[in-house]
Amino acid sequence: MKIQKQNKNLVTASYLGVIFVLSFVMTVLSVACIAKDFTVFSNYNVYLPLTVMVFCIMATLYFYIDKLDVDTLECISKLKKCLICYSTIFISVLMSCILYSYFTPGAIVTSFVTMMVTVLTNRKLGIFSTFVTIGVMLAIVMSSTYVLDIENYNLDMIGGLLIALIMCLFMTFLVGKEYSRLRLTWGTILIALATTPLSGVYSLLGHGASFESIGNAVLDRLIGSMLAVAIFIIFLPLYESIFAVWTNFKLAEVCSPSQPLLKQLKEKAPGTYNHCVSVANLVESCAIAIDLNPYMARACAYFHDVGKINHPEYFTENQKDGRNPHDDLIPEVSVNMITSHVKEGVEILKKHRMPETVIRAAYEHHGDATVSYFYIKAQSITEDQLSNYTFRYNANKPSTKYSALVMICDMCEAIIRAKPPTDEDGIRAVVDNVINTKMKEGQFDDCELTVRDFSIIKDTVSEVAMATMHKRIDYAKAKERR
Ligand SMILES: [Fe+2]
Ligand SMILES: [Fe+2]
Repeated sequence: MKIQKQNKNLVTASYLGVIFVLSFVMTVLSVACIAKDFTVFSNYNVYLPLTVMVFCIMATLYFYIDKLDVDTLECISKLKKCLICYSTIFISVLMSCILYSYFTPGAIVTSFVTMMVTVLTNRKLGIFSTFVTIGVMLAIVMSSTYVLDIENYNLDMIGGLLIALIMCLFMTFLVGKEYSRLRLTWGTILIALATTPLSGVYSLLGHGASFESIGNAVLDRLIGSMLAVAIFIIFLPLYESIFAVWTNFKLAEVCSPSQPLLKQLKEKAPGTYNHCVSVANLVESCAIAIDLNPYMARACAYFHDVGKINHPEYFTENQKDGRNPHDDLIPEVSVNMITSHVKEGVEILKKHRMPETVIRAAYEHHGDATVSYFYIKAQSITEDQLSNYTFRYNANKPSTKYSALVMICDMCEAIIRAKPPTDEDGIRAVVDNVINTKMKEGQFDDCELTVRDFSIIKDTVSEVAMATMHKRIDYAKAKERR
């Protein structure tokens, strides 16, 4: 216990040491940029107190990540979160200082931190990192006001920072679950325009009533925001691959019909592909209803049966001309062919470097359930009492809400497709039965679905299934009647 505590202290000390070095480098470079004088590096009287101030602000972020930041379902390690937050803060602060000194004061790119941290981790950490960035910049700019004697000029940046903070807070809502490059660009322009009155008032207070100064202030906000979006779009793919984080952009690419693995599934096992698409529609609707990421949910459903690619003909949805290869096999071999699609799916998904949550859904979507059809078939040809152990999936029960959703929707879709109910009550009965059976088997013991979630899932699956089963008008018969 004591050793564990010592190790924890050592880890914290190492993190804080690195943050101190980063604070020092950032402070030195920022002040030198603002002063436009790189020969003042030796002036420790300026740098050391300022570095300590910047370090204190930066350290709060570490303690927030360590103690308060609740992990998202996509599980990003503390180290990754720190690297993402501190590197974006470093880029944002330095870029804003360079813009301030050499191009236009007031064009601040702090929303780069907001967007990147929110998209890669979560909204709360995005907001906290924004406050830290603004705090660091205020410390650097206000200190340099006294030390470097450039008071009036710095006022532009201080005002710009306060307005940037308001813009960044709006921005966190823009980059929620549903975001796209187009929405970000237009949203940013709108937010920049919406804060125009604030920029105008600040400019009036600082420079007096002149159209030119108000125009410049508004232009600064626009330039800063658009630059932030531009560097966000440039850096995002780099961050995604370096930190192996699955953003909605990347998940949408994985679910596109041109994705090679999906293409392969469509060609080799068209029945399974259609089943996966139908399951994805159900799972995605449920994910939206219980506040999960619909992109991740769709990806889990698309690839849950990808292991069937190796032997598609052993699965009913791919059998043509009524030929069933299981007729020539003993039930023990048949069950082995069926259950192997889980492990084979995991291998394929690992080879294609799919997200951990998607791999888990493929592995866990049948839990440790018994393949009743072959168990009953085997029992019918022997008088001995057979153990159902050999007829079970040798996998884990769903450990995430996504895996549980795939399990429920997978079974509902298969039953409804095999024997379509005639009305909504029939569909509801199927969904109720699937959830109750799986619950009795204990398949949901390791996931965190609540009673409320189950009730919402039942309603959603019934509604979506009913909508997809709606009857079409028989135009040929209608014509005949006329
Ligand atoms: Fe399956
Ligand atoms: Fe399935």
